[in-house]
Amino acid sequence: HDNGLGSTPQMGYNTWNDFECHGVSAENIRKVADKMVTLGLPALGYEYLIIDDCWAKKRGEDGVLVPDPDAFPQGMKPVADYVHESGLKFGIYTDRGTWTCAGRPGTWGYEVTDAQTFASWDVDYVKTDSCNGPDSLDDRPSSAAIAQYKLFRDALNATGRPIFLALSGWHNWYSPFGKGLANSWRIGYDVRNWRSAWNYAIRVNAFLHDYAGPGGWNDPDMLVGSSDTAVRMTPEQSRTQFSLWSVMTAPLLLGSMLSMTDHDLETYTNREVIAVDQDPLGIQGQIVWENCPLRNRTNIRQKQYYDEIPACQQVWAKPIQDGFAVVLLNLENNSARVNFSISDVCWSSTELQPCDFFEEAAVRDLWSKEDLGRMRFINVTLAADGGSRMFKVVPKAPRKQEVK
Ligand code: GLA
Repeated sequence: HDNGLGSTPQMGYNTWNDFECHGVSAENIRKVADKMVTLGLPALGYEYLIIDDCWAKKRGEDGVLVPDPDAFPQGMKPVADYVHESGLKFGIYTDRGTWTCAGRPGTWGYEVTDAQTFASWDVDYVKTDSCNGPDSLDDRPSSAAIAQYKLFRDALNATGRPIFLALSGWHNWYSPFGKGLANSWRIGYDVRNWRSAWNYAIRVNAFLHDYAGPGGWNDPDMLVGSSDTAVRMTPEQSRTQFSLWSVMTAPLLLGSMLSMTDHDLETYTNREVIAVDQDPLGIQGQIVWENCPLRNRTNIRQKQYYDEIPACQQVWAKPIQDGFAVVLLNLENNSARVNFSISDVCWSSTELQPCDFFEEAAVRDLWSKEDLGRMRFINVTLAADGGSRMFKVVPKAPRKQEVK
């Protein structure tokens, strides 16, 4: 989407996993902003604070959205001001249909009004969902939905304010259309635990790498975290999610803030892993080796469809400016050994491919932060149930130039 935004995937925080519809208020948004600043997150690139569903109460007689007066007694503008004064950017949520997913007023028929309202509140980011509109639950591309998104995209652009546009919804058909419509688009249903991370994100995104790039990104949903209140993932799985999301060049949107554990904080503030996600080449990583059963796109249905997590291992890799990043992933419920031959994967300027000129590569463990020396194989034991390791690999041979 050509609005100058999203040259790398967005980073920030979204209220949905923490609050859902309980406690989305000016007071809590200020608390979240303060916490983000205290933790030093803005300096690491976490720049957007996004209010998800349940802030809107009704549509006024003038057609303008009215925030819940109990939760936002002064309206939205002072909240945006507070977020901006904290050094953050301000995001908000709506839906292309009549109602949002939680039953608040949606944007259908009010695309221009809402775009102007958001711009007048100094909104920097809009997540627009896909409930309660034409073809809301369709697994196939919908011309009605695309028309609605275009209308809203153009209305936002017409405000003259640069506003990052993030499409939501449970479709898996966005990706081929994504770049023309928005800066990011969800690729599946909500990720709330390890099982949904596999079903709606990991196994789906493996097929979508060609559609992502600077300006528009596949969005496999938020980072779940392992805090007690947010439940959902073990500390190990939470770290694996962060590693994989970085190799998948995914938006890094934190889903737990006020209850964040020290372990999750350490995970989310690893600069070297963030740098993999934010690498300027903007290439989405892909599976370069696996012993998992064959999957294909056509059996990937989105809405509340569960596949058993297969008992197998995968190696994901992503080209970055000075080499590539690798995540070795164990999906099995036992620990497993993987001996990955680095020479099986190399890269041209845009594609991963086998490389024959290869000798040995310098390997760095991005979580223990140790240089492991030069090697041909990465031979590791991976913990059960989503255990992983992540490495940066810098081959000896100079980067292969594309022949023009
Ligand atoms: C959908 C989206 C979620 C969240 C909720 C809000 O489920 O996928 O990310 O925005 O709606 O109601």
